[in-house]
Amino acid sequence: MKLLLIDDEAPVREILGLSLRSEGYEVMTAASGKEGIEIFRRENPPIVLTDIKMPGMDGIEVLKKIKQINPETEVIIITGHGDMDLAIQSLQFEASDFITKPIKDEALAVALKRAKEKLEMKQRLKEYTTNLENKVKEAIEELRIKEMQLFQSKKLAALGTLLAGVAHELNNPLSNISTSCQILLEEIENTDLDFRKHFLKQIEEQTDKARNIIRSLLEFSRQKEFEKETLNLKDIIQETMSFIRGQVPARVEIRVEVPESINIYADKQRIQQAFLNIITNAIQSIPNEGIISIKAEVDEDKGFVNIKFKDTGVGIKPEILPRIFDPFFTTKEVGKGSGLGLFVTHEIIERHGGRITVKSKVGEGTSFLVQLPLRKRAYEQ
Ligand SMILES: Nc1ncnc2c1ncn2[C@@H]1O[C@H](COP(=O)(O)OP(=O)(O)OP(=O)(O)O)[C@@H](O)[C@H]1O
Ligand SMILES: [Mg+2]
Repeated sequence: MKLLLIDDEAPVREILGLSLRSEGYEVMTAASGKEGIEIFRRENPPIVLTDIKMPGMDGIEVLKKIKQINPETEVIIITGHGDMDLAIQSLQFEASDFITKPIKDEALAVALKRAKEKLEMKQRLKEYTTNLENKVKEAIEELRIKEMQLFQSKKLAALGTLLAGVAHELNNPLSNISTSCQILLEEIENTDLDFRKHFLKQIEEQTDKARNIIRSLLEFSRQKEFEKETLNLKDIIQETMSFIRGQVPARVEIRVEVPESINIYADKQRIQQAFLNIITNAIQSIPNEGIISIKAEVDEDKGFVNIKFKDTGVGIKPEILPRIFDPFFTTKEVGKGSGLGLFVTHEIIERHGGRITVKSKVGEGTSFLVQLPLRKRAYEQ
């Protein structure tokens, strides 16, 4: 093991050097603190023995310097008889030990043994820590893989549900169209214009329905990239409202309380689609008179724009609440709702780095909270 001995007195270097070499140490010697530091930098010995009182750089300075260069080094201080203060000071700077001059072999042996033990312990601790770190890294990697697998299988399951739903949903309008065509073909010669019109209308409606399902699904597929831009929230909501103005019955009042100052960073068409789905549901949830309120505020702390859609409709039963974002989940009568509205909305909000949550009470109403990241944050998405 390498050992550096720093002492300005040549006889000490010689005698101590000899006895240390006989103990099996590879001893390097320096006659001053400055020289000692030079050698230390070059050789990086794990143990340093330094005299405390030396002209120029003293032992305390040497100790501080060495600890700075390599804090793991064990530094043993050699002190004279009256140097108790200095010795104590050296311990404060993390000297491993001190021995007094004249140096007794046993005292030196004990100090060296302790230093070596400390070094060994540190080494073992280091190995242990690296080992632990590696184990943690492995565990994290394993978790990541598991998570990915889980995600994949979840996605597959969702896809399965989705495909089953698509097949089922498309089957209805298609068989309807097919039946209408058959009837028309069979009866076309013996029937009047109204009869034929009725069936053609039916075919048109069912085709529309099928087309809407396909459109919603295309929305879901990742083909079309999102094009985000800065949009004024109030403008966007007002524009969305103009799409449905004709469908809002007079008994339903819609209140928009959105400050003009709020901007969002979003894909215009998609975000309007998301808002539209929520508002349409709200309108459909109000059987008689009712109010829909749309409020927005900025939460600087959390970095979100919060948009709340609240209705005084029938509310959602707690047992179906967890399912309303599922594809094809609907409580509306056959032919009315496809159950894709909230599924698509959820997807759109998520892909803006936002989230959508819902609270509802049967008989009181429902409120949806859409949280979109503030533009600063949205940029990082
Ligand atoms: N504001 C609301 N009030 C009460 N129930 C709601 C509300 N919003 C959603 N729901 C419930 O969640 C279900 C799913 O909504 P979603 O918009 O996904 O489908 P849908 O409205 O049934 O059909 P679609 O929107 O495809 O025409 C609805 O059928 C309804 O039961
Ligand atoms: Mg809907």
